[in-house]
Amino acid sequence: MNDLPRVSLGHWPTPVHELARLSRAFGGPRVFIKRDDLSGLALGGNKTRKLEFLMADAISRNATTVITTGAIQSNHACQTAAAAARCGLRCILALAPGAPERAQGNLFLDRLFGAQIRWTGDRDPAQVMEELCAEERSAGRVPYVIPYGGSNAVGAAAYFYAMREFARQARELDLEFADVVVASSSGGTQAGLIAGAASLHLNTNVQGIAISDPAPVLAERLHTLANLTLQHLNIRAEVPPDAVLVNDAYLGAGYARVGSAEREAIETLARLEGLVVDPVYTGRALAGLIGMVKERHWKASDSVLFWHTGGTGALFAYTEELL
Ligand SMILES: Cc1ncc(COP(=O)(O)O)c(C=O)c1O
Repeated sequence: MNDLPRVSLGHWPTPVHELARLSRAFGGPRVFIKRDDLSGLALGGNKTRKLEFLMADAISRNATTVITTGAIQSNHACQTAAAAARCGLRCILALAPGAPERAQGNLFLDRLFGAQIRWTGDRDPAQVMEELCAEERSAGRVPYVIPYGGSNAVGAAAYFYAMREFARQARELDLEFADVVVASSSGGTQAGLIAGAASLHLNTNVQGIAISDPAPVLAERLHTLANLTLQHLNIRAEVPPDAVLVNDAYLGAGYARVGSAEREAIETLARLEGLVVDPVYTGRALAGLIGMVKERHWKASDSVLFWHTGGTGALFAYTEELL
């Protein structure tokens, strides 16, 4: 297995604990949570793990500036801005579509971390990033582009290691988990987890809740990326298509459109457990998990893990939709 370059940005392992009141409220299964929202960079989240590898790659290529893209409230963009600050690199964010009246939530944090923002309007963000690269080069700087969501094999490798971290924690708890449930969008998180589970021959499914794309589109991306991640790590294992599990029943009115399912999930976790999920990713993923619990997808005696991937910063830009 290749030993990949990594910078330290987070605190590992993130905790795993039981959501006992939530489990009881639904009459089982036992639901546990893995707290990647406590990763330790900015307000936390899955991108901290990916950025440990992506920033190391940028530094190894002598980059002076990292450039990435996302929506206004992108957690990935915000975590990239924080990681760049920590590593002493410049950061430019190509955000879509345009400047809102007030910089709230993650956009406020992007500015706090000193990121420069270029609004994409209705242009292709990839083209905007190319232009930003050209501008940086002509100013004598070295740009490094981090793809949307940090979801290439470099970033996804982080979740290969995260699955190993969780497998150790499951052993310590003396539990075999039926499923790990996780929000899945650009795919790097779930693809890395699937690659990790495949290499360890775990009996645990990695169940993605689709956040933005229909299942066939997301599943194909996940399958390709999981296998690319194994190749990047130089591991001789293969992820078969049937190891890619995606539930797209919770897409609602579309990406970042908050509906009653997300509202209910956010309130349920807040009121039963005193914990916070965000309206775009983890709220939707938790709505998926709760929906599957209600459909009796699991036996009451099963153990299921909700992998909290962060997003807390975005919550504060959605207070009107939530209250
Ligand atoms: C909070 C949060 N959870 C989950 C995801 C989904 O992760 P991925 O893009 O790796 O599928 C994202 C992606 O931006 C996110 O911000």
